[in-house]
Amino acid sequence: MSIPFDHGGNVFAVARSLGVSPEDILDFSASINPLGPAPGVKEALLSTFDRVMHYPDNDADDLKLALATFHGVDPAHIAVANGSTELIYLIPRLVAGRRGLIIAPPFSEYAKSLLRAGWEIDYLELRPEEGFSLSLAELERRLGEGYDVLFLCNPGNPTGRLFPQGNVAEIVDLCRSRGPFLVLDEAFMDFCEGESAKRLVVGGGEGVVLRSMTKFFAVPGLRIGYAMAHESVIGRIAALREPWSVNTVAQVAGLASLADRDYMERTIRYVAGERDFLAAGLAAFAGLKPYPSAVNYILVEIRTGLSAAELKRALLKERILIRDCANFHGLSERFFRVAVRTREENERLLAALTGRLI
Ligand SMILES: Cc1ncc(COP(=O)(O)O)c(C=O)c1O
Repeated sequence: MSIPFDHGGNVFAVARSLGVSPEDILDFSASINPLGPAPGVKEALLSTFDRVMHYPDNDADDLKLALATFHGVDPAHIAVANGSTELIYLIPRLVAGRRGLIIAPPFSEYAKSLLRAGWEIDYLELRPEEGFSLSLAELERRLGEGYDVLFLCNPGNPTGRLFPQGNVAEIVDLCRSRGPFLVLDEAFMDFCEGESAKRLVVGGGEGVVLRSMTKFFAVPGLRIGYAMAHESVIGRIAALREPWSVNTVAQVAGLASLADRDYMERTIRYVAGERDFLAAGLAAFAGLKPYPSAVNYILVEIRTGLSAAELKRALLKERILIRDCANFHGLSERFFRVAVRTREENERLLAALTGRLI
């Protein structure tokens, strides 16, 4: 089974196909902080220019220390990577096994990384009509079928659903007793940090929390992610990683981002306000059902005859790009996802939706 490259945020290819520049596209398909990078990041990048003639710090020690301080864990519990995607692709080498269970609808790279390594995959599908809730009893039953890895994304992408820390604690316990290595993808957890299960996972056992600086800190082009786990797992990750995979500029941008607490607080407040505004605007269309979200994107179900692909094509005429979710395992052609952007941009989306058969 092969899964093609199909993600949100592919503005370069979309702009090429429309014959416009990427800046002309209003991109709701990638879920990036609408405030942009922290104000100090640009200056930090420019002032780092002279360091590009050296190899990067292979261990990213300064960034690792800043992350450890931020999360209140020991630096030995952290490994920095070239986006969390580098870590996802490391999993089949980190874990001895051949069968993975993926909670769906999932980020498609989980399946691709396992399939590329010759693993078998299965899905446990969370259903829209049940609000994408996860039954622990069902998970326990499925784990009884014998899996070596379990992938869970919290908050879920594309669902936006947050499983509270108490629920995740039960899943961590289940994995410890049943055996599968738990990959807990918290790429969007910065929006609700208090619910992170990082402390449960770094405390011991076979599992890892994956984090990304791409989304909250708005630096997808730089590629910064990291793992948090028990130091024995981090040691194995460090041994498997490609050398110098996190470049100097990315490391400095990560440091500058973490230094700005005010920007982080502003982001959380701003996104929460705009999420409410956008969700209410979407819910006002009789043919749309937005799902509750804890993060900076909203999953929407179309309840008319229109498909998400048709809606995407119609909106592209106004150079607005949404994420058609038909290729997420467990979702139909009726689902799309939109990022929470600035007030003016959110209004533009809502205006563009008006009169589009919904
Ligand atoms: C749920 C989830 N995990 C991981 C990633 C990968 O992020 P990164 O840019 O850190 O590689 C993404 C990117 O879209 C994602 O949505």
